[in-house]
Amino acid sequence: MENLKAIILAAGQGTRMKSKKPKVLHEIMQKSMVEYVIDTARNCGAEEICVVVGHGADKVQAAIQREGLTFATQAEQKGTGHAVKMAGDFIEEEKDILILYGDTPLITGETLQSVLDAHRKEKCSVTVVSAMVDNPTGYGRIIRDEKGNFIKSVEHKDASPAEQAVKEINTGIYVFCGKELKSALDRLKNDNTQGEYYLPDCLEILLGDGKKVGAYTAADEQEFFGVNSRVQLAEAAAIMKRRINRKHMENGVTIIDPENTYIGSDVVIGMDTVILPGCVLEGKTVIGEDCEIGPNSRLTDMELGDSIKFQTSTALESSIGSGTTVGPFAYIRPNCHIGEKVKVGDFVEVKNSNIGNGTKIPHLSYVGDTDAGEKINFGCGSIMVNYDGEKKHRTTIEDNVFVGCNVNLVAPVTVEKNSYIAAGSTITKDVPEDVLAVARARQTIISGWKKKRVQKKS
Ligand code: UD1
Ligand code: CA
Repeated sequence: MENLKAIILAAGQGTRMKSKKPKVLHEIMQKSMVEYVIDTARNCGAEEICVVVGHGADKVQAAIQREGLTFATQAEQKGTGHAVKMAGDFIEEEKDILILYGDTPLITGETLQSVLDAHRKEKCSVTVVSAMVDNPTGYGRIIRDEKGNFIKSVEHKDASPAEQAVKEINTGIYVFCGKELKSALDRLKNDNTQGEYYLPDCLEILLGDGKKVGAYTAADEQEFFGVNSRVQLAEAAAIMKRRINRKHMENGVTIIDPENTYIGSDVVIGMDTVILPGCVLEGKTVIGEDCEIGPNSRLTDMELGDSIKFQTSTALESSIGSGTTVGPFAYIRPNCHIGEKVKVGDFVEVKNSNIGNGTKIPHLSYVGDTDAGEKINFGCGSIMVNYDGEKKHRTTIEDNVFVGCNVNLVAPVTVEKNSYIAAGSTITKDVPEDVLAVARARQTIISGWKKKRVQKKS
């Protein structure tokens, strides 16, 4: 939706994390909490987002550079109202301003969209999001009159016993009209038990101006779960995991054991793919249809075609074509482009290499810095000797080459098409096409050797 900006508060220290890292940078499946919030805000149409940073400001800014993202600094934490005020220049009078928190990663776009819709339909000056909870201790309470009209939001520490009994809490999320937000922030006071400038006080101020204040009661309190400790981080991660896995299952992916499958929020998986237990799928990984992944596999920023069998292996920042099989116990390192119907078998490491269609590397090989053509057979123990102690060099192997077992190809070197390399060869010079290259000592037979040895001993 156009006309929307978001402010994300992230200045707090997060003492209970007991960490050198600012709280909002702690990750759930390889993505920091604040990035979940940024992505959700963006998905709701907030094109410009301002993150208010304080503790560890430099680290937070360095970690999340993106287009349309700006930062405001709150040097001293004087309360949520003060924090928003630090983003004063970012607030445009004619726009709606969404207020979110860097440590509340479970908030969904669907909920925010409903809040925005209600806010706009009711033509409110501000809409606060509330939730009904069993244990409201510590939260601000939403106080309403007998007719259910909003009166104020009072902090737990400032609330009367009657107010403390209220189970409708302020989730801390709001949509403000920019103009009204600015005007209310200018009038905030800190005459309360904590001596802080409370953002919730803006509600009462605007109500006093005769403005319309809405309170939208959200259905799922889980979405407002704030993370303050590593235990809570794990709890949030568990909720996020279930949510993501459910979405994939609803889209036609089979997940054998959803409790033991960890899929990042940006991963895409095609229909009828099966994910076996113990897999970690991260980053911008895209997996096609009819694949079988796992058990116990890690894929980070990978691009997979269809019908790939990827068994008990790790693969990073590479692509794999349809019909290829990988593993068990293969390691595909960054910048590999592996073709279709390739076999990358057990205990095979591939790095920074291109592997053509139909090529087989069935077992116990190292293929690094290599451009391999189609239908090549790498024998067991093939090693691309890419490092001379100072520099890395490339190996080129053309189509239909047969590399025998236990062969070293010392780069830079080229093997032209259709050639054979005899088992046990160490190849240091280019090999032309259609030949057999043998580079090993010839076998000699020493007759009578055993007998002589026995005679010597006695
Ligand atoms: C706040 C609300 C409370 C609500 C609750 C929901 C206020 C005064 N209270 O309480 O009504 O029920 O959230 O979780 O708003 N922050 C800053 N700068 C500051 C203070 C806070 O950036 O000066 C950030 C913190 O990093 C944190 C968030 O704002 O992420 C909330 O601050 P906190 O002081 O923890 O508010 P709560 O006591 O949780
Ligand atoms: Ca507080």
